[in-house]
Amino acid sequence: EKGTYPHFMLKEIDEQPIVMRKIINEYQNENNELKLDTDIRSAMKAADRIYIIAAGTSYHAGLVGKEFLEKLAKIPVEVHVASEFSYNMPLLSENPLFVFISQSGETADSRSVLVKIKEMGYPALTITNVPGSTLSREADYTLNLYAGPEIAVASTKAYTAQIAVLAILAVDTANAKGIELDFDPMQELAIVANAMEVLTDQKEELEQLARDYFSTTRNAFFIGRSGDYNVSLEAALKLKEISYIQAEGFAGGELKHGTIALIEEGTPVIALATQKNVNYSIRGNVQEVVARGAKAMVISLKGLEEDDDAFVLPHVHELLTPLVSVIPMQLLAYYAALHRGCDVDKPRNLAKSVTVE
Ligand code: M6R
Repeated sequence: EKGTYPHFMLKEIDEQPIVMRKIINEYQNENNELKLDTDIRSAMKAADRIYIIAAGTSYHAGLVGKEFLEKLAKIPVEVHVASEFSYNMPLLSENPLFVFISQSGETADSRSVLVKIKEMGYPALTITNVPGSTLSREADYTLNLYAGPEIAVASTKAYTAQIAVLAILAVDTANAKGIELDFDPMQELAIVANAMEVLTDQKEELEQLARDYFSTTRNAFFIGRSGDYNVSLEAALKLKEISYIQAEGFAGGELKHGTIALIEEGTPVIALATQKNVNYSIRGNVQEVVARGAKAMVISLKGLEEDDDAFVLPHVHELLTPLVSVIPMQLLAYYAALHRGCDVDKPRNLAKSVTVE
């Protein structure tokens, strides 16, 4: 039930710190050690390449997961849109492990891939919010998201839960492979949970930004580099699916290869600046669009902020920034949809779980 909330989406956005803490509790034992099924650990260790298969927001979480698995656990990862993989399979490695990411566990596009790769005899792990769902039952292993029911069509808490579970999976695999990490993942996730709480308390500020940037616009661009690029794709999906504003996420450096032609006087460009090594470059991209009339909104991370930034995120571990930078994106989309009189929880033409191919 929604309780006092006007929409499930807003309730689910607010639940994210609680979900983070639940995941921390569920995935560690009494000695604060990671607790993962040993069969999953063995399957991860045996894989020479991971193929992540998902759709929509879950695909976007997969892109973030690739960073964790490659950077922490040193396993090559490919992330594929399920509906594409199904009919245009890439050349596979010798010992692949398939990881299906799905909030509902019922997405037909993903299931079609699962059926095919099982026929080929490959192992599969499903990361889902619904253990017992089709994708969970038909895979060899399951990791639970513990996000609780997600009712709004626009996925919010499932995305952050997926990212947190992927981080835990990557760290567990790194441990199993004897790779030393210089941070305590659970402690960093606890810091993220607190940061999320700070952000969900900043609704008034974000509502105002949504009013200023999205009340009447026809389109909007989200830009980022590296980890921020992954989040800009999710930010654009969130905005378009519930507010019907045409929105696109772009890699900052790619703008000049075509998209910058779309920038007009007043076009909203939301730039994420949470990554130290590309901070200088993304700010250069902001100047490029501002010079062509864009109305820029820079959302940066504490420690990297500059005077004119519209919003500054609390500092968290650099790899985990998607977990916090997505929160203002979700809230901006929510308020944009609200101000434009859209049906926030049930956007047109969409269903919560897409059970047709
Ligand atoms: O249940 P799944 O995670 O497999 O669903 C995948 C997509 O249909 C889903 O993420 C969709 O993109 C959401 N409406 C996005 O908010």
